[in-house]
Amino acid sequence: MNIRFAEENELEQVNILRKQVNDLHVAGKPEVFKPGFGPELRDFIFVIWKDPEQKIVVAEEDGVICGFAVIHHIFKAGSPFMKERDFLDIDEFCVDEAHRRKGVATQMIEFIKDFAKEKGFHRIELNMWEFNKSALAFYEAAGFETFRRYMEMML
Ligand SMILES: CC(C)(COP(=O)(O)OP(=O)(O)OC[C@H]1O[C@@H](n2cnc3c(N)ncnc32)[C@H](O)[C@@H]1OP(=O)(O)O)[C@@H](O)C(=O)NCCC(=O)NCCS
Repeated sequence: MNIRFAEENELEQVNILRKQVNDLHVAGKPEVFKPGFGPELRDFIFVIWKDPEQKIVVAEEDGVICGFAVIHHIFKAGSPFMKERDFLDIDEFCVDEAHRRKGVATQMIEFIKDFAKEKGFHRIELNMWEFNKSALAFYEAAGFETFRRYMEMML
């Protein structure tokens, strides 16, 4: 499995995985996520591709994209409450259903960690939806810890 940054001609394959994530989010949180995988969401991969602050990581084997991640450099200015923050955010993350539980996601996280260290970041952040218990189990297995919670009350 090759873990590396994506090439432009691989973005359509990345979109197949982005649809898997969107379908999962629609099933788990239908009041939040838009069903289907319309042109706006499909073409958003090109917005990410062109943004110098974002990068697309892929796990590729024999020309097949088995996993991907979007990493995003975030800088937040300080506020009266908080210090300024400069970190790497994992915005999107998926391994193809056919390639799960073979350590692909673990390899992608190692790649992202190495990149983050090389660029001088001291922190990687991500957020995830509470219904997604397998993602939580993976992120915890990979060494992430919960540091903040969003709460809601349905009325
Ligand atoms: C979450 C996800 C990325 C994990 O990818 P993966 O390549 O299967 O993960 P790995 O094989 O590297 O798993 C490493 C460890 O994480 C834990 N883990 C991974 N998937 C798990 C699951 N479904 N349930 C419980 N633990 C899990 C296990 O400890 C696993 O080690 P093991 O297989 O030796 O038991 C993948 O299931 C996925 O893409 N899910 C759908 C999209 C998604 O939820 N993305 C994240 C939120 S946007």
